[in-house]
Amino acid sequence: RRHYAVFGHPVAHSLSPQIHAAFGKQAGIDLQYDTIDATAERFFEALQAFTDGGGAGANVTLPLKESAFALAATTTERARRAGAVNTLVRCDEGWLGDNTDGEGLVRDLTGRHRLDLRARRTLLIGAGGAARGVAPALLDAGIGELYIVNRTSERADALVDRLGQPARVHSRYLHDVGKLGDFDLIINATSAGRDAAMPHLPMSLMGARSAAVDLSYGEAATAFLSWARAAGAREAIDGLGMLVEQAAESFALWHGMRPQTDEVHAALRQRNA
Ligand code: ATR
Repeated sequence: RRHYAVFGHPVAHSLSPQIHAAFGKQAGIDLQYDTIDATAERFFEALQAFTDGGGAGANVTLPLKESAFALAATTTERARRAGAVNTLVRCDEGWLGDNTDGEGLVRDLTGRHRLDLRARRTLLIGAGGAARGVAPALLDAGIGELYIVNRTSERADALVDRLGQPARVHSRYLHDVGKLGDFDLIINATSAGRDAAMPHLPMSLMGARSAAVDLSYGEAATAFLSWARAAGAREAIDGLGMLVEQAAESFALWHGMRPQTDEVHAALRQRNA
């Protein structure tokens, strides 16, 4: 029986154990998948204990994705572009660090929601770990110009520099966001909904056919998605689908096959509407 886990802090309410149990059942793979609560200070030790116990793979969530990147013996290109790791795969040299978040988001938007991302004028709100994780995959998926705004403008500048496409990716002040016209795709990658009020956003940001996406789900996504609906978004999408899709990508790395996600997504949706 192979052993997997998600590391985070807090992590007790993570849906990943349910998702991976369902995928395992579907694939006929007998696996154990636990939650392991670890602060950044204790993460190395906790991962070492997991390794010694024969751990074959792990997911990493807040606030450990940057630490996981630092601890991995090798990393994939997409993990390096994000500067963060959400998936660890055990191999001979130690842990391989990958990042499936961006791919998960793109799969959810283009597959489940049938959005055509190509040439979409996109606004990304936030410049923390979540934003870094998804921006490269959005660019690879062919979105048009990308504007990044953040409460702390220096972090938006740093993310724009990191993405290395100055003709296509721009940083702007959050308080000037009303001057940018409207967008086809607006993505909330801030953690504001988790513990504070969303920054004020003018309704003029929303075009007639725009889609709005919050990378969080549940309570944390409510404020932004309510704003998006009030502003006339054609679609208001939370991060539950992305969560399931990034899990499927991790599952594929560990088990060599990508599970069907629709049933698992529908079951979670019923419980976390
Ligand atoms: P995550 O991994 O969730 O992105 P993070 O790296 O701490 O976590 O980044 C949190 C993001 O949410 C940042 O963009 C942060 O803005 P700052 O860089 O200015 O801190 C943003 N954020 C958090 N609380 C916010 C609030 N109340 N209003 C606006 N932005 C907020």
